[in-house]
Order: sequence, then structure tokens, then C-alpha cells
Amino acid sequence: MRKWNFSAGPAAIPEAVLQEAQAEMLEWQGSGMSVMEMSHRSSDYIDIANKAREDLIDLLNIPSDYQVLFLQGGATLQFSMVPMNFGSQKVADYVLSGSWSKKAINEASKIIDINIVTSSESSNFNNVPSEESWNCSENASYLHYVANETIQGNALHVPPTLNAPLISDMSSVILSEPIDVSRFSMIYAGAQKNIGPAGLTICIIKNDFLETASAELPGMLQYSKHADSDSMFNTPPTFAWYLSGKVFAWLKDNGGLESMGKINQLKAKNLYDFIDQSNFYSNPVTVRNRSIMNVPFLLKNSELDAEFLHEAKNAGLLNLKGHRSVGGMRASIYNATPIEAVDALINFMGDFQSKHG
Ligand SMILES: Cc1ncc(COP(=O)(O)O)c(C=O)c1O
Repeated sequence: MRKWNFSAGPAAIPEAVLQEAQAEMLEWQGSGMSVMEMSHRSSDYIDIANKAREDLIDLLNIPSDYQVLFLQGGATLQFSMVPMNFGSQKVADYVLSGSWSKKAINEASKIIDINIVTSSESSNFNNVPSEESWNCSENASYLHYVANETIQGNALHVPPTLNAPLISDMSSVILSEPIDVSRFSMIYAGAQKNIGPAGLTICIIKNDFLETASAELPGMLQYSKHADSDSMFNTPPTFAWYLSGKVFAWLKDNGGLESMGKINQLKAKNLYDFIDQSNFYSNPVTVRNRSIMNVPFLLKNSELDAEFLHEAKNAGLLNLKGHRSVGGMRASIYNATPIEAVDALINFMGDFQSKHG
């Protein structure tokens, strides 16, 4: 009964992971209870949590001088926690490349002085201006950018080379291909796209940067409190952490991020190539900044949008509606969306074009 789910998040989870969780739902490995019913301080649960953390470190090749935190509050809470912890008295630099960086900027500007180094807002965020044109501050506390703008479908594929500590929101691109974590002072990501279920947020923070964080904040808002307590400062989202651990194990079993990256590049290429050769569909994003995870596209005649979605749903292709702020369509093709799903989408788009074009 499962269909192809192109949702931007919460998004598809690998079927093998769901099946494993189903098998363990009533009782986890002879423990007499479900993972959901376990104390987060029990040795069984600590093993589950540590294994997930170790697999994530392995997958992303995270150097040993980084903390890997499993928090709550979504990526949205990071929009505030980052400036609270790392804003000090100085200015922080922000790249404005889409709806999510705009939200991050709005929240940060309630807390600290910010400098927008570049913006593509006047062209509806159809690109990320290249680094040479950025107007950076002399002594920024950090530079924040959203590596992949989930709504507009643009991406900065190579991290900036600036001296300021780099902080990136990687919510919709983490684990899609290998990255060099050592380039970053901090990476954060909400789980509900490429990691696992909603309710969990991963933060990866370099130790020397963490030492600069404010120690004046309430405990729940201090990264160092979470680091000192192995992400168990309070009750963590135990089930989301467990299920994400299963996704990490699935990724490792399937060749890790090298292999995921190749599949993801191919999926995105096939879809963009199809859109580009068609005179019925279009994608507005500058080629060098096209996202490999979120592919927005427009129909030549927007009056056909509702019919497209209706027929797509009947063909077993779900959640293709673009974000309400930009309209059109969007296919989110995260790790758990196999190439067969993208092939099915391309076939459907071709048939729809023949019928209505
Ligand atoms: C790039 C990006 N940042 C932040 C968020 C906000 O995440 P959350 O809803 O987990 O707070 C999203 C959600 O889709 C996102 O795509």
C-alpha cells in the first residue's frame, strides 16, 4: 500500500527501517518492553543512543574534537540558540538565500547585531550569489548560511572559504553526500528529512568554538550543558533518536555517503534533465545552485496545477505540491526516495504533458 512520497518533511523513511522498528515495536531485544517505554538512563537505552551517535560520527567522518548533540526544538530553535550562544558582543554575518535563512535572520536580529553579507531576495532566491561578491564584516562572531534552501530548491554546494567560524543549517541536505565537517564550527539539522522522524535535531559543534559559548543562559539553551550531559540534560526524544539510529545503520549497510551521493546526483540529474528538455515544465534556479534534494518545478500553465496533483496522487505519487509561499510543484528526493520513484515521477510527468500539453 505504500506509495512514493515526495514530501519535503516529515519525509519518507526507508521501508527496511520501518519494518525493523515494527518488529521491535512491542518488545526490544528481550528487554520486556518497547523502546518508547524505556528509561533514557537505562543501560539498554544508553547502548541504543551511543550506537546511533557512533554510526553518525562514522558516516560523516566527524573529527574527534567535535561534540555531536541530539536535541529538540527543531532547526527553528537553533535560529535563536546560535546567536544566544555565539553572538557575543560582535556582529554576526548571514547569507540570505531563501525562506529559511530569512527566518534565521529574523530570529537572530532580535538577539544580536547582524550583517547580511549577500541576498538573492530580489530575484526570488533563484540563486546564491557567489562568495567573491559578499560583504563580510571584519570580525564576525560567525557566518551563518543555509546549505540547502528547502523551499526555493537552491544550494551552496561548496562551503565558503572565509575566516569567520562557519555555521550551517544543513536540515535538508545532511547525509545526502560526504561533507568535510572540519570546515565548520557548527552544523545543525532537523531530523525529519534525511535523518529520521520529527522531534530530533542534530548539532555538531567544534570543541574550541563551544568553549566560546555563553555560560549565562538558562541550562536548556546552553549547548555546553547538553554536551556535558551527553544530550541527556533532560529527557531526550528517545524514540526519534532510536529510529534515526536505524537510518544511520541502513545508510552504512547501503554503502555510506559516497554511494548515497552518487545515487542522489543521478536522481537529481535525471529529473532536471527531463525538466530542461521539456517546454511544459521549468525550474527557475540557476544551474550551479540547483539543489539535489528539493526540485521545485512550474507547469507552463498554472491552471493545470490542481489537475497535475490530482492525477499524480492517483498514480501513487504523493506530496508534490510546492510550498505555499512559492506555488508550483516540488519533488523532494531525499535518501529514502529510490531512483525508481524518480523514474515513476518522470514517466508520469511525460504522460501528463502528452495529455495536456
Ligand atoms: C533548511 C531548513 N531549516 C529549518 C527548518 C525548520 O525546521 P523545524 O521545523 O524542524 O524547526 C526547515 C524545515 O523544513 C528547513 O528545511
